[in-house]
Amino acid sequence: MQTSAALGRIKPSPTLAITSKVIELKRAGVDVIGLGAGEPDFDTPDFIKEAAIEAIRAGKTKYTNVDGTAELKEAIAAKFKRDNGLDYTPAQITVNVGGKHTLFNAIVATVDAGDEVIVPAPYWVSYPDVVQFAGGTPVFVECGAEQNYKLKPEQLEAAITPRTKWLILNSPSNPTGAGYTAGELKALGEVLDRHPHVWIFADDMYEHITYEGFEFATIAQVCPSLYGRTLTVNGCSKAYAMTGWRIGFAGGAAPLIKAIAKLQSQSTSNPCSIAQAAATAALNGDQSFLNDRARAFQARRDLVVSMLNQVNGMTCPRPEGAFYVYPEFSGLIGKKTPSGQTIDSDSTLVAYLLEDAKVAAVPGVAFGLSPAMRISYATSDALLEQACERIQRACAALS
Ligand SMILES: Cc1ncc(COP(=O)(O)O)c(C=O)c1O
Repeated sequence: MQTSAALGRIKPSPTLAITSKVIELKRAGVDVIGLGAGEPDFDTPDFIKEAAIEAIRAGKTKYTNVDGTAELKEAIAAKFKRDNGLDYTPAQITVNVGGKHTLFNAIVATVDAGDEVIVPAPYWVSYPDVVQFAGGTPVFVECGAEQNYKLKPEQLEAAITPRTKWLILNSPSNPTGAGYTAGELKALGEVLDRHPHVWIFADDMYEHITYEGFEFATIAQVCPSLYGRTLTVNGCSKAYAMTGWRIGFAGGAAPLIKAIAKLQSQSTSNPCSIAQAAATAALNGDQSFLNDRARAFQARRDLVVSMLNQVNGMTCPRPEGAFYVYPEFSGLIGKKTPSGQTIDSDSTLVAYLLEDAKVAAVPGVAFGLSPAMRISYATSDALLEQACERIQRACAALS
């Protein structure tokens, strides 16, 4: 069968491909350490699981309102107020099958052929593909390590055209962990104030995984003038270790929320009723464990940043949040492996690390900024230390 032109514009998720490769190697008995996964290694807390079991027992097993139950929307409204000082009514809130689905819905519901979406690079792998699926054009803006992987106001100004529909802002970022301060968001907001046709997709999925010395802020809160054209996106996957439950959500202008519901009504319908009950419990429950988990991630960040910065030719910026680091290694390009292969790209280095050191990372090319790689440190301290030692040894063997 001939597949569609829209399908031809996208590629399978490269990060999920690495995860599959690691599973395959492990099954074959190879002692590989996977640092490619984009999910916390913690389990979903018990009180959330109990709420799901209770929901099944109570018969919450039927269709719900297409874009979320009243209870969950209320819990999300309370979350936005509590954490972000943002007021959203239920008509301004959408619940979707994971944050990726929120992205897909928002873009497919609003982007036409020829529309442009500004995507600061490095970027989360799904942004350009979803834009392209919708027929739009991703406009990449390179934000390298020298600017802490963050978009500058003058770069934003230069990227905006009359065709710009959205700016995607992700903080803290996948793949770099970089987080925008309130001041940095304000400076971007001043540019956006001059261009009222541009909407902002604020992806705050890693809001609760941030580190000491950094205070999380989101653009609709910091720049009230942008509230009406910002979609503030969040979800349960990362904060509550609920990647498998598939709950993402967003707050924004009621007409946009309605458009998303229209699309969702003809695709997935409601997100799983039981997962919605679990998400309601997660958002309404005691939030103190979030901080404990963030502190555990912080210790791992410190370990990984310190060990990778000991590698000659590698520079690893210290991120403000998420559970990724994005070391750049232009200093290793051109070197040779012990078997005589030249390291000519980040894909070659990552392949060498997998082959020689049995450590799996994701090459920067997947995220639009090379030469670099994404390392996820959502794994035990012991494994991380071992993985970093292996990377140090393999890189030291390059000549
Ligand atoms: C930046 C960012 N946004 C959104 C998501 C979507 O999360 P999910 O669809 O698992 O809820 C992810 C997941 O990797 C992410 O990294």
